[in-house]
Amino acid sequence: MTKRPLPWRDAWEQALYADGGFFRRSRPAEHFRTSAHVGEFAGAMAELVRRSAAPTVVDLGAGGGELLAALRPLVGDAVELVGVELADRPTGLPASIGWLSTLPDHVDGLLIANEWLDNIPCDIVEVAGDGVIREVLVDPATGEETLGDPYDSPWLRDWWPVAEPGERAEVGAARDAAWSGAVSRVSGTAVAIDYGHTLADRPPFGTLRSYAAGREVDVIPDGSRDVTAHVAIDSVAAVTGGHTLRQREALSTLGLDASCPPIDLARSDPAGYLQKLAAAGEVGELIARGGLGDFWWLVTDTTGHGTLAP
Ligand SMILES: C[S@@+](CC[C@H](N)C(=O)[O-])C[C@H]1O[C@@H](n2cnc3c(N)ncnc32)[C@H](O)[C@@H]1O
Repeated sequence: MTKRPLPWRDAWEQALYADGGFFRRSRPAEHFRTSAHVGEFAGAMAELVRRSAAPTVVDLGAGGGELLAALRPLVGDAVELVGVELADRPTGLPASIGWLSTLPDHVDGLLIANEWLDNIPCDIVEVAGDGVIREVLVDPATGEETLGDPYDSPWLRDWWPVAEPGERAEVGAARDAAWSGAVSRVSGTAVAIDYGHTLADRPPFGTLRSYAAGREVDVIPDGSRDVTAHVAIDSVAAVTGGHTLRQREALSTLGLDASCPPIDLARSDPAGYLQKLAAAGEVGELIARGGLGDFWWLVTDTTGHGTLAP
């Protein structure tokens, strides 16, 4: 019988990834929309593939394979495309796209992880009324929280110091380790894309959230909903190296443009005009302030080519 309450990290891990867990039995697109679900995003990735001359693209946490399926016609058959995903291979995915449950030992080319790090479970801590930092425990069935043992770690002290009663932190050490482990396998470029924060703007009460069926819902690690928290992107960057930029800057560098097509085109080429208008709308969504445009890109070039260097 499961012991309750559990440390948040254990409850989170079970809720998302155990047999029957949220990501084992449902696809992200059934519950929320990511950049990978917006067609123009693949165009930017295709440009990144071209600039980095990547022979292989590996999408870590590939979800329903949407990004790779959209990339396939844009990059040509010579580029190997591989999804790495705990969930089963999606039906209907083009046969030329590989599908693995674990990351290969070596990635020669481009490694992409869009909204992967935010789903890596973290320890969660809170400053109790007496000023002691304690681990937060949670009942997986109800989401009810209690405070456990005192908690201290070098990561917490260095990257997310908390002191005032009620302040919380999501301890990102597991994410730093996960992404640096992935990047260490890459000869080429690794790009982690996620919502996040830096030391200058950590949210005092944390960012733990749940989503299901297109809505934000109560945070409960019961396997019926996503559990996610923003990424301390600066701590990840400190272990992997590389540089950070916002998604709107990255996409602009890769040639995406949200400008509307000239109105004259509506008369000379109505179909072309509508196509360009739809594309501009998608780019607008991908670069929106307060939305996907605020996402961080952490770009690490392990061979020193500098594909998206500032
Ligand atoms: C938020 S979804 C993002 C999906 C997709 N990248 C997108 O942007 O739409 C996170 C995905 O990562 C997968 N995942 C999490 N940990 C994983 C791991 N260690 N190996 C493979 N897939 C993993 C989950 O199953 C889930 O499909």
